[in-house]
Amino acid sequence: MSGEISMIGSVILALFLAGYLGQQYLPPPKPKVIGLDLGTTFCSVGVFHPGSGEVEVIADEEGKKSIPSAVSFTTTAVLAGHEAVDLADTNPQNTIYDAKRFIGKIFEPEVMEQESARYPFKVINNNGSAEFLISTNHTFTVSPEYIGSRLLLKMRKMAEKQLGVPIQKAVISVPAEFDERQRNYTVRAANLAGLEILRVINEPTAAAMAYGLHKVDVFNVLVVDLGGGTLDVSLLNKQGGMFLTRAMAGNNKLGGQDFSQRLLQYTTERVQQEFGVPPTLKEDIHHLRQAVEAAKLNLTLQPSVTIMVPLHLQTSGSSPEGAAPATVHFQAMITRELFEELNEDLFQKILAPVKTVLAEGHLEKEDVDEIVLVGGSTRIPRIRRLISEFFGKEPNTSVDPDLAVVTGVAIQAGIMGGSWPLQVSAIEIPNRHLRKTNFS
Ligand SMILES: *[C@@H]1O[C@H](CO)[C@@H](O)[C@H](O)[C@H]1NC(C)=O
Ligand SMILES: *[C@@H]1O[C@H](CO)[C@@H](O)[C@H](O)[C@H]1NC(C)=O
Ligand SMILES: *[C@@H]1O[C@H](CO)[C@@H](O)[C@H](O)[C@H]1NC(C)=O
Ligand SMILES: *[C@@H]1O[C@H](CO)[C@@H](O)[C@H](O)[C@H]1NC(C)=O
Ligand SMILES: *[C@@H]1O[C@H](CO)[C@@H](O)[C@H](O)[C@H]1NC(C)=O
Repeated sequence: MSGEISMIGSVILALFLAGYLGQQYLPPPKPKVIGLDLGTTFCSVGVFHPGSGEVEVIADEEGKKSIPSAVSFTTTAVLAGHEAVDLADTNPQNTIYDAKRFIGKIFEPEVMEQESARYPFKVINNNGSAEFLISTNHTFTVSPEYIGSRLLLKMRKMAEKQLGVPIQKAVISVPAEFDERQRNYTVRAANLAGLEILRVINEPTAAAMAYGLHKVDVFNVLVVDLGGGTLDVSLLNKQGGMFLTRAMAGNNKLGGQDFSQRLLQYTTERVQQEFGVPPTLKEDIHHLRQAVEAAKLNLTLQPSVTIMVPLHLQTSGSSPEGAAPATVHFQAMITRELFEELNEDLFQKILAPVKTVLAEGHLEKEDVDEIVLVGGSTRIPRIRRLISEFFGKEPNTSVDPDLAVVTGVAIQAGIMGGSWPLQVSAIEIPNRHLRKTNFS
């Protein structure tokens, strides 16, 4: 009897071992669940490779790991990402961007009107919900979730091409401040793209997971997300394997474009000083803006850059009637110190929501275990220094701040896909009563 049991035991052990070894030496299975970051200005898709334990962020046909969140309608096609942006100049009324600002949201009529005024395309108020008016061969309206679905469909196709398998399941991130309706409409966008959503996670939680903070012993995590136009600060509290958003604050009118604007203002003044007239032609301002944007990016790595822009100024000496513009070569050296001086008051504004979330979470800054930086603008050295000086410790910056959210969502997708070996899962506790404090 006991011999029989031990034989059954050995068979089970052998089977177990075979399974174990099989998992060790068979090629790892292809990921079946993708992670999606549907951002306001850029989107990304990533997968977790169980074999290597690494996240791969998938590139589009141009090799870029983020695609612009834009969709353009022509008489013959609906284009998403870079192809859509390429049409923004020639087809502005039918090229929709920023759709995430409208998804699942009910607007007061005046607010909707203010919002619509910012865009070259037409936003229609359908009983409080936004719709976009498209005129190609015929005129029709599309919803924000339809725009989202075209972006998600593009990312699904990018993933299928890269992995060589059909994809039907995904995990998606949303801003922590999204209410249930906004989350539902985001899920609807994914459903329209043929994707079943296994879980919706908050962007700050995803960013914390990108740093593996779901696996290590931390309690309080502060996430600072500074993008092109908005600042979001979230205080997360991890209890066991669960992240809870304790407090949120932000500034929806602070971001990279404000820092560029200060630099543009400065260079415009320099042109005026040097040539006696400011740049007025549309393309001159456009070229200056591009140069300033490039300089801003370079200054995160270099102590100084020189910008050189040919301008067609309406100088008084250019012709008796003042009609023909004179071509001049504007050149200026911009140091990092100058860039920081021009923006110091804006940079200081970052600390206001940081202090608010600490106060609302009843924490001292010493109680924060890890600080996670997300969003391209957190590459600016002065901003990193400001935060590290405030907390007296270094923030986590090893993950590309533009890809931190998609990296974390892909890790969650790997967990949901049952990747082996088993990962410690982070579960989010929904915090329905939380409100975001806004400074602006
Ligand atoms: C729209 O019109 C163009 C020609 O003007 C035609 O080639 C195209 O097929 C039309 N598209 C649709 C969807 O009807
Ligand atoms: C408009 O929305 C309100 C609530 O948001 C709803 O009660 C009403 O039925 C809607 N009207 C139409 C025409 O859809
Ligand atoms: C969101 O979707 C869930 C599940 O489909 C549903 O129960 C809930 O009522 C929806 N909430 C809102 C606000 O649309
Ligand atoms: C920024 O750096 C890139 C590559 O490092 C270079 O090609 C570009 O000219 C630089 N731009 C400025 C404004 O210095
Ligand atoms: C960043 O996060 C990791 C956890 O994965 C932690 O071990 C590390 O000390 C953190 N801090 C910095 C400054 O990198």
